[in-house]
Amino acid sequence: MPQKYTKTIMDTTFLPSDQPTMHRQEFFRLVGISIGAIVLKRCMIGCSDQVNGTPPPTPSQKVDFTLKLDDRANDNLKIKGGYVISNGVIVAQTKDGQYVAVSANCTHQNTQLVYKSVENQFYCPLHLSRFATNGDVIAGPAVVPLTQYIVEPNLTAGTIRIHN
Ligand code: FES
Repeated sequence: MPQKYTKTIMDTTFLPSDQPTMHRQEFFRLVGISIGAIVLKRCMIGCSDQVNGTPPPTPSQKVDFTLKLDDRANDNLKIKGGYVISNGVIVAQTKDGQYVAVSANCTHQNTQLVYKSVENQFYCPLHLSRFATNGDVIAGPAVVPLTQYIVEPNLTAGTIRIHN
């Protein structure tokens, strides 16, 4: 007796819909615009932080604040070569354990500086100006020195006072 097979056919056709469909090119164009907008926004946020940040005090402005070493935000100051930026001032502990402080923004176009302990210099990541720990310009394009501040560490009390 011949065996009967039943055959199931799956329907893979899509039902017509009233919803408009999007062509592949249009889809990728919109995805590309969205990704571009996200990248642009992140770049603008990053750049604005880098260029503007906390404005440094003007050279004639009175500066007097104290950092507490037991504050987690200041943990880097416990490390030789570490630094923090506070109140527009960059405070660093040099490789030999000295504390130094200068205005935190480059005098060329106001970019926030970093401290490079290997060279014992403050460094501008935008156009690569370099400054000594007393604020003097080592390499341009910046020509105006940074403002140097007096640093009074009180390691018994666990504080560092920065003032002018
Ligand atoms: S902003 Fe620092 S060198 Fe230009």
